[in-house]
Amino acid sequence: MDHFLYRDGLLHAEDVSVAEIAAAVETPFYLYSTATLTRHFKLFDEALEGLPHLVCYAMKAASNQAILKTLAAQGAGMDVVSGGEYARARAAGVPGSRIVFSGVGKTNAEIRAALEGGIRQFNVESEPELEAISRIAAGMGVAAPVAIRVNPDVDAKTHAKIATGKSENKFGIPIARARAVYAHAAALPGLKVVGIDVHIGSQLTDLAPFEAAYRKVADLTEALRADGHEITRLDLGGGLGIPYTRSNEAPPLPMDYGALIKRTVGHLGCEVEIEPGRLIAGNAGILVTRVIYLKSGEGRDFLILDAAMNDLIRPAMYEAHHDIVPVIEPAPGIEPQPFDIVGPVCESGDTFARARPMPPLGPGDLVAFRSAGAYGAVMASEYNTRPLIPEVMVHGDQFAVIRPRPSFDEIINRDTIPQWL
Ligand code: LLP
Repeated sequence: MDHFLYRDGLLHAEDVSVAEIAAAVETPFYLYSTATLTRHFKLFDEALEGLPHLVCYAMKAASNQAILKTLAAQGAGMDVVSGGEYARARAAGVPGSRIVFSGVGKTNAEIRAALEGGIRQFNVESEPELEAISRIAAGMGVAAPVAIRVNPDVDAKTHAKIATGKSENKFGIPIARARAVYAHAAALPGLKVVGIDVHIGSQLTDLAPFEAAYRKVADLTEALRADGHEITRLDLGGGLGIPYTRSNEAPPLPMDYGALIKRTVGHLGCEVEIEPGRLIAGNAGILVTRVIYLKSGEGRDFLILDAAMNDLIRPAMYEAHHDIVPVIEPAPGIEPQPFDIVGPVCESGDTFARARPMPPLGPGDLVAFRSAGAYGAVMASEYNTRPLIPEVMVHGDQFAVIRPRPSFDEIINRDTIPQWL
């Protein structure tokens, strides 16, 4: 459930009319609902009730400071994957003791910064990384807390670009090598092994792959303990999918996912961490855009929007479906007609939807892309020198711009001219 609903024939974000925000901010822009963000976070937190746990929001999904502060105020930890995300989490007031650091390519500078600023644990993805963390931590005279990410060779049954738990993927160490790698870790200076980490992919719509992976992690926990390692924490990653259409069957709920976690690893006495991103932010955000032109082509009509692939790359990159809804609720009985919905960027890939049934729309009309809160703004670029679009947040009957649109001068003045020009 989210808080983007029609009220009196107009799409609202919580208690604010989307059209009113569009008049103040100018399209296109991202719009987030505080109530939806906090509701989704709490669903996970409650799903793990009874187990010692920390929900570490995967901030790669949406990392505006206002979003991080909203979630941190609810008790969220953060899952970061770069020095930049670490700095963002700290700037939002999240203590290092609530930040886990994932990713296959942590640099020396990133490792050092996290050790200096405080870190709950590094999720280590390879032996060279383990050695780098050991060297840096030992040089600083500290013990770095580490969990080792294992690759369980489980098919997450999701889009190939976002599956991470098969042996051909670049992530983690093969689970069959885990005991040897933990032995290696135990022998290195500057490390404190705290647990096991796993993440098999994103937008999973079935619990079975999670179950297969978590059972393997449970078995590994027992094997490692028998080898003498102290395993006190299990980081079970993110990946629970969201409904992208209102019509399709909904994916499993956080509550079912929590029950699965309790069933598979609850008996081990470990503290559990999870790293959901999409389920927290995805349906807590929409992209609001305006029709520029209605263009009749051969056998098709194009709706040309003022948002483009640089603002929301998911359809071009993953053939992702986003529901697109008019901001003015169509009158009952209106016959939808098919449109190709496109942006202004000079590529045919700048197509959001083909033959999408929509109510009659024309220039100036506002439409909203639903489910755009996760992997939307964070994946945007300034291709075609289109400024990064503003982000706006609603809280009850208030709204605030949480990232303004840069001016053309601000964009141009970031470039510097070499002395020979
Ligand atoms: N933890 C790790 C280690 C991850 O790699 C990811 C996502 C997550 C947690 C969060 O997964 P989530 O709960 O959001 O599914 N840009 C793609 C999604 C990429 C996901 C990458 N890793 C998209 O737009 O679909």
